[in-house]
Amino acid sequence: MEIQFIELQSHGDSRGSLIALEEGENVPFKIKRVYYMFDTKHGVTRGFHAHKKLKQLAIPMKGSCRFLLDDGNDKVEVLLDDPSKGLLIDSFIWREMFDFTKDCVLMILADSLYDESDYIRDYEEFLKRVANDS
Ligand code: TYD
Repeated sequence: MEIQFIELQSHGDSRGSLIALEEGENVPFKIKRVYYMFDTKHGVTRGFHAHKKLKQLAIPMKGSCRFLLDDGNDKVEVLLDDPSKGLLIDSFIWREMFDFTKDCVLMILADSLYDESDYIRDYEEFLKRVANDS
């Protein structure tokens, strides 16, 4: 499975760093929604779903966490620990997020508004959908 990281240009100087996110520039989709997870409790794993259409870009603003990405054939574990590196997550990718550090703030940009009907929350259904579509 191909893991797509986007390198986000950091404008750093003696004062610190600044990163701009721009639709159609370093973010390869229309930004319709932004949400972030923080204060994630020790030992928690979240996610456990795939999306039918949604594309997302995950950026660890602070701290770190790990993603398990699964396209139905391969599973890959990725560490997100750099606010200048965004992880692009396409549709039909099962994801689980874990190992959140106490200070982790994980921001997600998404190309659609929240829509529960776009979720596949059952892993067996996910595998069936992937098998039928290939
Ligand atoms: P949930 O889907 O359980 O998060 P995750 O899959 O990342 O573990 O979402 C938690 C709650 O937040 C759930 O009640 C739905 C709600 N929610 C929104 O209202 N808008 C959103 O954009 C998202 C991602 C979740």
